[in-house]
Amino acid sequence: MKGRIFTVAIDGPAASGKGTIARALAERFGLAHLDTGLLYRAVAARALAGEDPVTAAERLTEADLARPDLRSEAVGRRASEVAAIPAVRAALLDFQRRFARREGGAVLDGRDIGTVICPEAEVKLFVTAEDVIRARRRHEELRARGEEVSFEEVLADLRARDARDAARSAAPLRPAPDALLLDTSKLSIEAAVEAAAGHVEAKIGQGRG
Ligand code: DC
Repeated sequence: MKGRIFTVAIDGPAASGKGTIARALAERFGLAHLDTGLLYRAVAARALAGEDPVTAAERLTEADLARPDLRSEAVGRRASEVAAIPAVRAALLDFQRRFARREGGAVLDGRDIGTVICPEAEVKLFVTAEDVIRARRRHEELRARGEEVSFEEVLADLRARDARDAARSAAPLRPAPDALLLDTSKLSIEAAVEAAAGHVEAKIGQGRG
């Protein structure tokens, strides 16, 4: 899709499968991909080191996004907290908007892509799954990376994060009215990716017509 501006916005709660779907769509359709959760995680990592979160968001660099510790539970928890600060969100807005409308097309995954960052996105998906299933996925992921954490702890943490992300007044987690809802609770990764890709293809077809 060279020269074309085309945005796929993928939102949903933690461990819903949105990141996996976003990466697969980027590869299949040749789109640039931005995991916007990483921006908040990078701010959180700097905040955990003592920096003011708003200053951290304003001074974020490429190197911050490459830190190896961004996927930990502690950083994820803090990310959900700093993400509720309106000035943190405001500092990250322009970068995400520019990325979304770059030439050649982009897929962004997060919580507010279809509602706030890019309401004009040509394709919107809201990916969900039951919380117990999401906690199981996250638990396996953390254990595979060697983090010692119990399933109960992961589930409690995920529920707390869901509640905070959905209840905050600044860009709360909610589906855009024109988003396709995709529940991955009972879907394999392949089936979820196929469903999402089918939706993108249908929208591209509409754009051509
Ligand atoms: O997707 P994730 O778990 O990496 O995101 C970490 C936190 O960042 C999440 O709890 C909420 C916040 N976030 C957000 O508020 N808006 C986004 N677009 C992406 C993430």
